Amino acid sequence: MFAVEDTAAQICWHGLPEGSVLEAGDARAEVGPFHDGDEHSMGAMNLDALPPDTSLDLTLSSPGSGRRRVARFRTLAPPPGRLLCRFATVNDLHVGERAFGLLRTLSLPAESLAQAHSALCARAALTEALAWGAEAVVAKGDLTYHGTPEEWEEVGRLLGGLTVPVAALFGNHDVGRKAVHARTALAAEGIHTPNEPFARDLPGIRLVMAHSEVPRHSGGRVVGAQRHRIAELLREGERPAFLAMHHYLQRHQLPTSYPPGIAGKEARALLDTVVAANPATFVSSGHSHRHRRRHYGPVVLTEIGATMHYPGTWAGYAVHEGGIRQVVRRVAAPKAIQWTQRIRRVLLGVWGLWTPGLLADRCFSHNWPHR
Ligand SMILES: [Fe+2]
Ligand SMILES: [Fe+2]
Repeated sequence: MFAVEDTAAQICWHGLPEGSVLEAGDARAEVGPFHDGDEHSMGAMNLDALPPDTSLDLTLSSPGSGRRRVARFRTLAPPPGRLLCRFATVNDLHVGERAFGLLRTLSLPAESLAQAHSALCARAALTEALAWGAEAVVAKGDLTYHGTPEEWEEVGRLLGGLTVPVAALFGNHDVGRKAVHARTALAAEGIHTPNEPFARDLPGIRLVMAHSEVPRHSGGRVVGAQRHRIAELLREGERPAFLAMHHYLQRHQLPTSYPPGIAGKEARALLDTVVAANPATFVSSGHSHRHRRRHYGPVVLTEIGATMHYPGTWAGYAVHEGGIRQVVRRVAAPKAIQWTQRIRRVLLGVWGLWTPGLLADRCFSHNWPHR
């Protein structure tokens, strides 16, 4: 059970024969025919039209065996009030990455950058996020692997070709040693990212994009002047806000995991500013390639994983009058999920245990504090 929403669930399976059926409530999904190359016989499927805020049995029937219960789960209660809009985020696309693992031994046969696992997963993530109903997309950095012109061209094709508005941020990979000027390169593809923090308004929420990348450094910073501009944007929107950034905000001055985010003192200064400017703010980052959730006073913070490393995800947000609901889904296109599943065993399997976080880190409703 990877994702649970108010009326939907995403279930990952492996080793099931064709024709196996998963059911919960009145929803039903069937393992379809395997195609050439689907040698791992694993995948993800969705159960839709579930009743909200309800405990349900997940049952499995396979050809030749009866129906049996395999899990019990509870759908989320949606936040209060009407649904106002949906948007999605992707981060750590690393377009241009062609191999992974300590010895870089994991790769897919690819003649071009567009066929490599990174572009394949990014393309599938965006397609699936739009199919889920996203009306806007925020790409939260590490869009490329080395920031070369060829990589930016591919990012431009991926993001520039979407039918919904896109806002882009940069990560450490986009401003590394070999990188060309990221803003100029992306602007050439039709996506303009201002130098300063910037905002886009959607019904019921203001998206605020904060820059944290530091050229040729893995960790990030949000210095005083940026912080003040972020506060202005959060306040001026006169509505709840979603603060998107690439680097996560460390709890402590020194990082306790790899890679480093934004050091504790600067992170707390930003969070104090956010709470004072607009306590109805949801903060979300990438960079750590893992899923986590924590609270800082009335503010909730999440970290979302990469599109192309296990578990291989994107995040969706349903904005209601009284709150916001986050869902994290695995990129489910067969080639993409079979690739990300291979990454699970990296670092002797520690990767597979460390990165998904808990279901409650990934899927939850958050009510805005009362004004
Ligand atoms: Fe990354
Ligand atoms: Fe990063």
